[in-house]
Amino acid sequence: PFPWFSTMRKASPVRYDATRHSWDVFCYDEVLAVLKDHDTFSSVRPKLGPRLLGSVIGEDPPKHQQLRNIVSRAFTPKTVADLEPRIKAIITDLIDQAIEEHGHFDFVAKIAVPLPVIVIAELLGVPIDDRPLFKHWSDVIAKGATENSMSGLATLMSEKTQAKEELDSYFLHILNERRVDPKEDLISHLVQAEVNGEHLRDEDLLEFCILLLAAGNETTTNLLTNTVRRYCEDPSLQVYLREHLEAIDVATEESLRFYSPIQATNRYATKDVQLGGHIIHEGDQVVVWIGSANRDEQQFVAADTFVMDRHPNKHIAFGHGIHFCLGAPLARLEAHVALPAILERMYAMHFEMDGTLQPIPSSLVYGTSQMEIAYRLPS
Ligand code: HEM
Repeated sequence: PFPWFSTMRKASPVRYDATRHSWDVFCYDEVLAVLKDHDTFSSVRPKLGPRLLGSVIGEDPPKHQQLRNIVSRAFTPKTVADLEPRIKAIITDLIDQAIEEHGHFDFVAKIAVPLPVIVIAELLGVPIDDRPLFKHWSDVIAKGATENSMSGLATLMSEKTQAKEELDSYFLHILNERRVDPKEDLISHLVQAEVNGEHLRDEDLLEFCILLLAAGNETTTNLLTNTVRRYCEDPSLQVYLREHLEAIDVATEESLRFYSPIQATNRYATKDVQLGGHIIHEGDQVVVWIGSANRDEQQFVAADTFVMDRHPNKHIAFGHGIHFCLGAPLARLEAHVALPAILERMYAMHFEMDGTLQPIPSSLVYGTSQMEIAYRLPS
């Protein structure tokens, strides 16, 4: 998408796309202006049937803040930091299993997919054996951005509705168990939480659990895959970072900017408003292109170059404003633990064959659904 973004930033930084009936915003300043102004640019999707993804991400103040307060208490830096030893143990296991496979393996399937799923499952407190179910549900819920035909869309909607029903009954069962017998996990915390003296309704609890699966898994998978992809594209990075482990986190921020896992998010105008010389009308949908803002040469010197130690790096890969990603500390911690472990145990990583990088067919998500890599063991 990057050459297209570049063309659009120059030719029409804010434009109306008549085929999709929505606005596109490409430049950093305008994208930021939209994300900051949550009164004018709402996150609540208007005029649609049942929502598939709700909770904090699809709410405006004041409900947004109430929900976010409850969950953010469960996502404090301390809670997240406490996960470090578990993440370390999980990644060690995953690497052990991956390197049994003769010098090459699919990084996505063996490492980037399971790590975040296992971490979220443990955080929520759901049985680890249910992981395959989770993976299936989160895939179905995340699917869709590319479905253009009406029949494709109809099949997808029924698939999604079914996944949502299955997920609801699955989580409802666990919620009820935790009400009776609370444990030290996020679900127990959520069922006990109160807003204005009242517990959250089942509906809100379910939406939140599902949001964590949908928002946290594929994104973190893609962060890990995109970063290791970059290591393979530029092997000198592997050599340098292995010798300077303290530089890995800054390079990961650059990966978030350069190959942003989420390329776009939506807003809906609550009133007529001027943006980039155009009038956006009340009710119009606005797509803000995070992936383009992160490549805007007005904001980033050498924007199309991966600068391992870029500073400052005000990328907006985790969004901006009141909806700033709640899981950012967790995603960063997973990368912080996993990437050094990968670099230390696999040398000279490179793509196994041409053509095995399968881009995820979506304009909103950036990643590869498969990435065969070869490596050698440290001597
Ligand atoms: C919100 C990106 C990982 C949970 C967001 C938003 C972005 C984003 C761009 C803002 C959406 C908007 O404004 O419309 C990412 C990326 C990730 C990641 C790139 C990984 C590299 C996670 C993880 C979790 C998570 C691991 C949870 C376990 C959330 C939640 C919100 C959110 C709950 C909504 C916050 C709110 O509306 O107040 N994320 N995310 N994310 N993310 Fe993430």
